[in-house]
Amino acid sequence: MATAVQDLMSSPPVTCPVDATLTEATALMNDRQIGSVVVTDRRAIVGILTERDLLRAAATRIDPRNESVRRWMTADPDVLGLGDEVGAAWSGLTHHHYRHLPVVDHGDLVGVVSLRDLLTVAQIRPADEAGTDVPRGLEGVVVAETSVGDVRGREGFFHYRQYSAVDLAARRSLEDVWQLLFDGALPDRTGAAGFAEEVASLRGIPEGLTGQLPSLAAMGTPLDGLRTAISILGAERGWRPTLDIDHAALRSQALHLCAVVPTILTALFRLRNGKDPVDPRDDLSYAANYLWMLTGEEAPATHVRAIEQYLVLTIDHGFNASTFAARVIASTGADLAAATVGAIGALSGPLHGGAPSRALDMLDAIGTPERAEAWIRRAVTRGDRIMGFGHRVYKTDDPRSVFLRDVAREIGGELFDFAQQVEQTTVEVLAELKPGRQLYTNVEFFAGVVMHSCGIPREMFTPTFASSRTIGWAAHIMEQADDNRLIRPAARYVGPPPPQPVPAV
Ligand SMILES: CC(C)(COP(=O)(O)OP(=O)(O)OC[C@H]1O[C@@H](n2cnc3c(N)ncnc32)[C@H](O)[C@@H]1OP(=O)(O)O)[C@@H](O)C(=O)NCCC(=O)NCCS
Repeated sequence: MATAVQDLMSSPPVTCPVDATLTEATALMNDRQIGSVVVTDRRAIVGILTERDLLRAAATRIDPRNESVRRWMTADPDVLGLGDEVGAAWSGLTHHHYRHLPVVDHGDLVGVVSLRDLLTVAQIRPADEAGTDVPRGLEGVVVAETSVGDVRGREGFFHYRQYSAVDLAARRSLEDVWQLLFDGALPDRTGAAGFAEEVASLRGIPEGLTGQLPSLAAMGTPLDGLRTAISILGAERGWRPTLDIDHAALRSQALHLCAVVPTILTALFRLRNGKDPVDPRDDLSYAANYLWMLTGEEAPATHVRAIEQYLVLTIDHGFNASTFAARVIASTGADLAAATVGAIGALSGPLHGGAPSRALDMLDAIGTPERAEAWIRRAVTRGDRIMGFGHRVYKTDDPRSVFLRDVAREIGGELFDFAQQVEQTTVEVLAELKPGRQLYTNVEFFAGVVMHSCGIPREMFTPTFASSRTIGWAAHIMEQADDNRLIRPAARYVGPPPPQPVPAV
């Protein structure tokens, strides 16, 4: 079994000169059937060019025949030593989200190791040894296959099925994207109208649950109440284990679930604030109806569209913690309600979906643009996290934040101007005090601004996120159920060595 980098690297490495064009580099990669080339200047390694770089380049309008490799490569890549352990190679690749690393021996380039090489080794290792290679928090570890969507952190790109999520938010309704996630294709005009009508008819809360809402509302936040409400819903509707039902039955349950979640959340919010729930209307779109049920008034079209775009952007986002939780529970064959309740629990944590209002709280605390720099500087120096900045996967602009910044700009107002000033100051201060960490605004920063500007109270920020994410969870639960294998990983035991004699009482 291979334990050192030299046992699994590809050698000799394929190189290309730094002044080569992208067309020449692509031809080289095609010829050799490889996913990267090491870029050299005379004999020195100056960069690495991968398929991912070529994809980034292809997404622009450049002419690859005139474009130099130098512009698109990753400059000064990390390198591995010939004798490095596989574990070091694994953390080098996964920690920085690299796919390929050059291998050197006494300063000379001798090979390339790819993530694929390492996965080959990981698959043939016994579980107790493979554990040594898994980074804490499973960062970068592939645990399933999905065709729902994915996130490419280094490129600042995410997609639902084959479409850019940002393009979908710009061009399609939430209902269209919901159908894309559930059925795998975007509807045409007739299909879209039919689906929107079908889901609008499912918004009512079943009677058995309605009576329980006041006590749920009194007990905790709308998100807390939603967990219990979904458990009641599943029991009342007789939702059976996913293991025992077919795709059509599960899809039908999932449509009911996603349609009724906004009604439950807004009812809980209103009851908690001493108001009667507002009945859903089936003549309004998902987003318009959401704002209607929240406030009891028809919202302006600009607000409806802004919230719809926010909801589209938050439907799904790779294998985030709540989606993973939903799939783990679904993999046991448990019912849709059980998997969704588990996902809501994961989402509620401040490190996941539980903190979108904190960015606005921070703006309140800063107060005025002149105070921003000193405030941020003090907070970072003290070791505090600046809310709405930084991301586990994105090491460049979060595309959701870029989009929502534009949405917020269109709505306008003082809060947007102030938020933008604070954003600029924060990025500058973080670059100075946390150099190399690549900290930019994440989805939370402008999401809070957009929701606030559209009249959504802070208490409802995370529930609004949960509402659209339920659609993503449901799509993943269906995918898991369609091709299921129990998700049951292993842990490394690090306690006192067993077996020890059991002391008598
Ligand atoms: C989102 C988040 C949890 C991702 O964390 P992560 O990938 O695990 O990153 P780490 O915790 O390893 O942080 C890496 C470095 O950047 C710093 N950093 C990360 N986010 C930061 C932030 N928002 N403000 C200040 N410093 C930050 C850390 O202090 C750490 O610095 P160090 O190397 O000196 O210790 C983190 O960026 C964060 O806490 N952001 C603020 C909360 C937030 O906006 N949450 C919503 C997420 S969508």
